[in-house]
Amino acid sequence: MTMNDRLDTFVGDVLLEGDRIARIGACLEEEAADRVVEARGKTLLPGFVQTHIHLCQTLFRGRADDLELLDWLRRRIWPLEAAHDEESVYVSALLGIGELIRSGTTTILDMETVHHTQHAFEAIRETGIRAISGKVMMDYGTDVPTALQERTDRSLQESVDLLEAWHGKENGRIRYAFCPRFVVSCTEELLVGVRDLSAKYDVLVHTHASENRGEIELVERERGMRNVVYLDHIGLAGPRLVLAHSIWLNDEEKRIIAERGVKVTHCPGSNLKLASGLAETPDLLARRVRVGIGADGAPCNNNLDMFQEMRLTAYIQKVQHGPTVMDARTVLRMATMGGAEVLGMESEIGSIEVGKKADLQLLDLTDFHTYPSYEADPFSRVVYAATRGDVDTVWIDGRVVLDGRQHTTIDKANVL
Ligand code: GUN
Ligand code: FE
Repeated sequence: MTMNDRLDTFVGDVLLEGDRIARIGACLEEEAADRVVEARGKTLLPGFVQTHIHLCQTLFRGRADDLELLDWLRRRIWPLEAAHDEESVYVSALLGIGELIRSGTTTILDMETVHHTQHAFEAIRETGIRAISGKVMMDYGTDVPTALQERTDRSLQESVDLLEAWHGKENGRIRYAFCPRFVVSCTEELLVGVRDLSAKYDVLVHTHASENRGEIELVERERGMRNVVYLDHIGLAGPRLVLAHSIWLNDEEKRIIAERGVKVTHCPGSNLKLASGLAETPDLLARRVRVGIGADGAPCNNNLDMFQEMRLTAYIQKVQHGPTVMDARTVLRMATMGGAEVLGMESEIGSIEVGKKADLQLLDLTDFHTYPSYEADPFSRVVYAATRGDVDTVWIDGRVVLDGRQHTTIDKANVL
């Protein structure tokens, strides 16, 4: 069974040529130049698109629990990021990517730490994941370890250097995004610089906004405005801006997000674990805001697994607003096409359609004890019952990166 953007399901063959989906139909196996993957009874889905990840935090799992955001950053995450070196950033990225691919994620929007980001890009290049990444930018704030404090001009210049080295590399699979950490960490001068550079290079701006009440109070106290109103005042609010979390939004901020075409990432596991709050995802979707899903960093929810994030996305809304407000189709769409729209890549990825990139995952749900199994709703099965253990084979850019015959990832990810 496969799925396109209209969320129609169908039974048939998918022919890949190079990095693309070349044909979809019946009996195409004779046209396959080399390998045929027998998928009878299995479920072929677009790879998941996660629109907020911190690969550099994978190694921090279990070392930053039971705190709220600002304490968590100041007491645990920033000191740990300050202690990173070239090798630990590389290994952290490698481990995170291995986990992501094994759980069906083929594209990420990632935010690294201040230094050593080229080593995260190396891991992205070697493993084959599709990634938009960038160094975090932070030139302002209290309780920031010396190693993470940046000068504004250096932060901008290093970001541009990384962009010029990596943006568009590997057949366009690797891209750059400017990553000002959040308003709390950035001077107005830095944010204005990011606004101009993101327009000049036509790349995304990836930041956190309105995640925690302490954070928004700090922004209001220091900048005299609500968080999103401030971003709009600077001129950053537009279709290139991706806001992670966006839990504590008032009506004016929601209106700015909708009118300017700002994108939002919902991070349900992280929002629960850091006691940040419950995002008003159905309200944003009703306002036609593009909303994707992201696991955030590993220490935010101890997991990078989209199957868990999809379930949490549904459950959080069901318990508040009833069982149908966030149904399985809506959630699966957010995890695939919705993510592609957040990244402005809806013509390239996010669904199984001819001409799109061959970023796919094959799930083996054949041993589910459902009766009669052929009548089960495939969307419900994927969203409420599937786990990462059901991921059989994964393709990115037409390459097998998780091989169902061996259940090992290729290349460097073999070290996992
Ligand atoms: N806000 C600023 N930095 C971070 C971070 O690293 N993780 C999360 N969840 N929120 C942030
Ligand atoms: Fe985050």
